[in-house]
Amino acid sequence: MRAPVPEVQADPRARVPARWRKEVERILITEGQIARRIRAMSRDIVRDFTGREMVVVSLLNGTVMFLADLIRNLSLPLRLDFIGVSSYGAGTESGDLVFTKELRLDVRGRDVLLVDDILDTGKTLGRVLGKLRVLQPRRIKTCVLLNKAARRVEAVEADYVGFEIPDLFVVGYGLDFAERYRNLPFVGVLHPHVYKQACQQVIPARPRKAGRRRGR
Ligand code: PRP
Repeated sequence: MRAPVPEVQADPRARVPARWRKEVERILITEGQIARRIRAMSRDIVRDFTGREMVVVSLLNGTVMFLADLIRNLSLPLRLDFIGVSSYGAGTESGDLVFTKELRLDVRGRDVLLVDDILDTGKTLGRVLGKLRVLQPRRIKTCVLLNKAARRVEAVEADYVGFEIPDLFVVGYGLDFAERYRNLPFVGVLHPHVYKQACQQVIPARPRKAGRRRGR
């Protein structure tokens, strides 16, 4: 059974840095809260994977910060590989999934930890799990920093979850809006005017990743 996951408790003292205040309404999860939670999750993962040959498979691009902090807390021998997957679509609803990088390591018979930044509708994780299972790993455990259960359309749950979050448009700590804000060290809530403005722009001929996630 999965360990209880904390509902995110925003720190009322946390202030959005002046540089971001026009775009980011408030901080939902601070750097400190993220760091503490990752240490706790890592302990659970180490306990469950000790003695196994572990392959960490991380989904590009949103896991960039989470992955770096997670694996430096995993005191286990591990190998690391990436799958590139993106949801493209016009407007702010998620569209079709496009694979931009395939797995290179052989995971057959291995214990896989699949890492993503956010579990939202579940379409991405569901599709990637399907692809990985064909490769016959010994087992696959899933690990996400954020779980937005309210938006789920696929029956997918993660084994390790950092925070349960409400249906807010969140950015930072790897999560983007139109490829921006990934570098924020915290998870923040985007001002509605930012994504509403982007939606009103003319949709280009070639689908782009601008603002495809309504709930994020
Ligand atoms: C985001 C995120 C997850 C996915 C979750 O990826 O990184 O992989 O959406 O959404 P879902 O549960 O509704 O499928 P995105 O396609 O935005 O690409 P990115 O990782 O490059 O930001």
